[in-house]
This record gives sequence, structure tokens and C-alpha cells, in this order.
Amino acid sequence: MDVTFRIRRYNPESTTNPKPHWQEFSLKDVAETDRVLELLHRIKWEQDGTLTLRRSCSHGICGSDAMRINGRNALACKLLIRDVGEKVQIEPILGLRVLKDLVVDMEPFFEHYRSVMPYFINNTPVPADGRERLQTIEDRAKFDNTTNCILCAACTTSCPSFWANGKYVGPAAIVQAHRFIFDSRDQGAEERLDVLADPNGVWRCRTIYNCTPACPRGIEVTRAIGEVKLAIRKGSPEGIINVNDIPQHT
Ligand code: SF4
Ligand code: F3S
Ligand code: FES
Repeated sequence: MDVTFRIRRYNPESTTNPKPHWQEFSLKDVAETDRVLELLHRIKWEQDGTLTLRRSCSHGICGSDAMRINGRNALACKLLIRDVGEKVQIEPILGLRVLKDLVVDMEPFFEHYRSVMPYFINNTPVPADGRERLQTIEDRAKFDNTTNCILCAACTTSCPSFWANGKYVGPAAIVQAHRFIFDSRDQGAEERLDVLADPNGVWRCRTIYNCTPACPRGIEVTRAIGEVKLAIRKGSPEGIINVNDIPQHT
């Protein structure tokens, strides 16, 4: 099949066209099972070597190739052409400064990430028998879902609250905070909840829900944000009901 790509281009150093603009590329002999990333490679390698994008693993793990594909955030390496059609529009993710073509400045995103202390905090000595700090299967399940985050930014850059105010810490940072706040072995929950109670913290989330379907890792982003909001209201992560604890109707 033939496929047409319409790609948002921008090169501030160009002497001929330094403004953002669209450019079309046609590709022949495309298989339904080709991934969008492979076809962007074909464009770069066969038609225009100046096309600039980030990618690394090609397997949905590194999180570097989040982009807006036909109006929705996705990882280019995970989307098959049969799922996007014969006309594919590609833009950089929104809300972060574009540096060149599909490459955005991720520094504000990582600044928000660092602000929630995304690392294990426990100042008590390790157990004398040298074993790991143990926890129950139920306690581990409370943050299992949020351990899957690959920091691709698809959630944060699909959030209208973040587009409106880049100071909002954003769903990705909250997901990362959730992973540690609800870890029974961690001792930094109070500090993280203080950071997230800031006016630019969780309360800027208006439950718009763009973030959850944008997540390529199936993380229940809006639920995680809701659990952090509840923990702030209660002053502690203790006793917050996890979706896994709710009896299912059969
Ligand atoms: Fe990406 Fe999902 Fe993590 Fe957001 S929560 S950064 S969408 S993996
Ligand atoms: Fe934004 Fe997701 Fe909240 S889209 S407003 S962070 S539910
Ligand atoms: Fe690594 Fe797509 S290239 S997630």
C-alpha cells in the first residue's frame, strides 16, 4: 500500500525556511504491519536525512519516541500502520518547546520529575540478617501499576492543564511519586505529599482524563492521581483504597 506522511518540520537554523511548517512524504510498498517508526526511518534514510526525531529501543521500553500521531500521543515504535491508516500526520508532543522537527526540550519535564524525589527513601539500617526489606504481596500490589512508567511524557503532554500552565507538575511526575508514596518500605511519603499539595501540584489536575488513554504502558494515570489527592486530604497514604481491593461484580 502507499502511505502519505504529513510531518511538522521546524529548523530554527535554516536559512531558507526557519518557521514551523508541514511537509509531505509519500512511501510505496508499505506493509500493514510496518510500524510508524520504521516508516519515519525510511523517510529519513531514503528521502530527507535532515528529519530529526528521538528514538532508541524500537520496542516500547525507552520512552524516547513519544509524538503526536493523527492527533493523539503515542510511541511511534508501538503503532502499526494498519492502526493509523494511509494518511499519517506527525507532530511533536505539545506543551514543551520544540528544538527541531519532532525533538522537544524535555528539561522542564524532568525538572518536575526530580521535584517529587523519585527514589527510595529509608534511613533505617538494612536488616541485620542482610535480607531485603520485605513487604506483603498486598502492599506490593498498591504501587505495582505505577512501576511500569517509562517517562515517555505522553501523559503530561496530552494534559490541557499542563498546556495551560507548564508549572503544573503533571501526571508523569505524580505517577512516579505514587510509586514511592504507596511503597510500605519507603519513608518519604510525607515530604512528597507536601510537594504535591503545592498550588502547582495535584490540584491542577481537573480530571480531564486525556492522560490515561495516552499512556502506552496501560498505567491508570488518573486513578493514581486520585489516590495521591486522597492521601493529601487524609495527610497520609495509609488506608487509601486501591482499585485492586474493590470486590469485582461477577
Ligand atoms: Fe509515559 Fe505512562 Fe509514564 Fe506517563 S505514566 S510518562 S504516559 S509511561
Ligand atoms: Fe490532566 Fe490527566 Fe488530570 S489529562 S487534568 S492530569 S486526569
Ligand atoms: Fe524506545 Fe519507542 S524507541 S519506546
